[in-house]
Amino acid sequence: MNVDHIRAQFPGLRDKTFLDAACVSIAPRAAIAAIEEFLHMALQGPERSATLHHIAMDEKRARARREAARLINAGEDEIALVESTTHGLSLAAQALPLERDHRVILCDLEFLQLALPWCQLSERIGIQIDVVSHREGMINVQDIADRITEKTKVVAISSVQWTNGFRCDLDALGALCRDRDIWLIVDAIQQLGAIPIDVQKTPIDILACGGHKWLNAPFGAGFLYVRRERVPDLRPPMAGYLSVETPSGGWGEYFQTPTITPIRAYRFVREARRYEIGGTGNYPGTIGLAASLRLINELGPSRLAEHIFRLTDHLVAGLQTLGIRLVTPIDRQYRSGIITFTMGSVRENVELMEYLLDHRVCVSVRYTSWVGGVRVSCHFYNSPEDVDRLLNLVDVWRRRR
Ligand SMILES: Cc1ncc(COP(=O)(O)O)c(C=O)c1O
Repeated sequence: MNVDHIRAQFPGLRDKTFLDAACVSIAPRAAIAAIEEFLHMALQGPERSATLHHIAMDEKRARARREAARLINAGEDEIALVESTTHGLSLAAQALPLERDHRVILCDLEFLQLALPWCQLSERIGIQIDVVSHREGMINVQDIADRITEKTKVVAISSVQWTNGFRCDLDALGALCRDRDIWLIVDAIQQLGAIPIDVQKTPIDILACGGHKWLNAPFGAGFLYVRRERVPDLRPPMAGYLSVETPSGGWGEYFQTPTITPIRAYRFVREARRYEIGGTGNYPGTIGLAASLRLINELGPSRLAEHIFRLTDHLVAGLQTLGIRLVTPIDRQYRSGIITFTMGSVRENVELMEYLLDHRVCVSVRYTSWVGGVRVSCHFYNSPEDVDRLLNLVDVWRRRR
């Protein structure tokens, strides 16, 4: 894979060593060009009919659904465009047919926004949350299986954990949930764009993924996947014009019909699009997302993952040579683009991060449930030289103390 060729898409990499896609990534030229083209269209306004202009904008936006479907090997009808992972996960939680005393399994490594919608449902309707504890930064599928009762309806999990990059065994978890007729809800924002997921192979029911991390999309836009067979079991919590059936002659003709009335029995589309509740939404964001996704799809997600594994192998080996403690479980099966290590205390990790930032090497410090440290994100646009620069600076910082 030619990394120089890829880096040409990311001029933001020129003046820094950017290793923090797990926070917010850098956008490629392709996304910015697509947004600029859209902004020009917005600046010019309709050539003739504003109605047709609106339809043309919707068509541009729809490309994001197509590219998201391609990325995870889903049908386009299984994708809804949402604002963020949080937005998608909240929609999922509200749409599930849950009742008082139904149980949801979560783990203690999660980002707050995976847990929030269930905490809200716990207060509102009295669902119960069972928390599975990590074991040295790993979430064991057997530990999840052991917590299942006949009241368990949902397992919600991040496929890659945000503090240490632990990647769970989604295939095993999917098989377990399917076998026990439990909804598997996946937050994939720390995985997709780095390590592929194929929903034909992995039985996930609902997956949410925001665009601004490993997908390199610039503004608030992401997607929600809902497995086709599961759509009828869900209750859309809200609705917008995209979630109902388009009138047979199209919206243009519909709005010119004097007999129409807004109070009627609307028919919801069967596609995941029924979760697009935002009305006339974030066009620049979704158009940028479409272009960023397209770039990943064209480059080939499996090839990109191989490159990322080579980089993280290199980083792990370098940290081990320096005698630095890894927080990330190093078995490739459980690894992602994130490698976290620790210099000892939180204070030392923050000091090192500040030193690296001063030297224009972007990383973060992240913790949850006592798991964390200096978090390094190796993305497909990074090179072995980026990793070497990081390792050299870590070594210099350590020797100076
Ligand atoms: C695992 C995980 N889920 C969700 C989020 C939030 O994503 P969004 O802003 O798309 O809701 C983050 C952000 O750090 C995250 O790491």
